[in-house]
Amino acid sequence: MKNVKILDKSFKPMIPHHEIEQIVTEVAAKVNAYYSQRPQTPVLLVTLNGALPFSAELMKHLEFDPMIASIKVSSYEGTQTTGSIKTLLGPTMDLKGRDVLILEDIVDTGITMTGLRKLLDEMGAEDVKMCTMLFKPDKFHEQEKKSGIEMTAPEFVGKEIPNSFILGFGLDYEELGRCLQDIYVLDE
Ligand code: IMP
Ligand code: MG
Repeated sequence: MKNVKILDKSFKPMIPHHEIEQIVTEVAAKVNAYYSQRPQTPVLLVTLNGALPFSAELMKHLEFDPMIASIKVSSYEGTQTTGSIKTLLGPTMDLKGRDVLILEDIVDTGITMTGLRKLLDEMGAEDVKMCTMLFKPDKFHEQEKKSGIEMTAPEFVGKEIPNSFILGFGLDYEELGRCLQDIYVLDE
């Protein structure tokens, strides 16, 4: 694997595609185990655009036949509240009373995830869980400390990674690099 250059930045190889497949297979097994015990089949809520490749890979391994909805949000850190998100698109289905599994490419500060959970609670979803391909626990706990609000960590995590900026398999830099089949890290 070679470095890739996008706009002004260079990224070096971090997780090759075969390892991503392994990570997704393992997290799918945990998802299957959880939903085999639930009374209803969940709706998969794909967060656009980053979670698209991860979602498609995960779907290959699911032992149930979920409905699929999508949502596009942007997160921002308000001056007083944490967990503020702006809905740009969707959700494309009424989620009241449903089990919902949110699919994310990465949980960084957790602001997006916390905002999504709040939104789905307000919509009356029955059971909300989060499945993320990657998780930066240090950033998440830093944010938790900063805000003083206890946040729920993602229930299903593919792989924990350190605090660096990464790219590929859904993750972008300035909306580019999402279609790369491997994951790269900023080469500083
Ligand atoms: P959070 O709200 O800080 O947890 O992050 C939410 C969003 O930021 C993710 O869904 C990603 O779209 C984006 N993001 C976070 N970390 C990275 C990264 O390392 N590379 C690319 N996008 C990222
Ligand atoms: Mg995203």
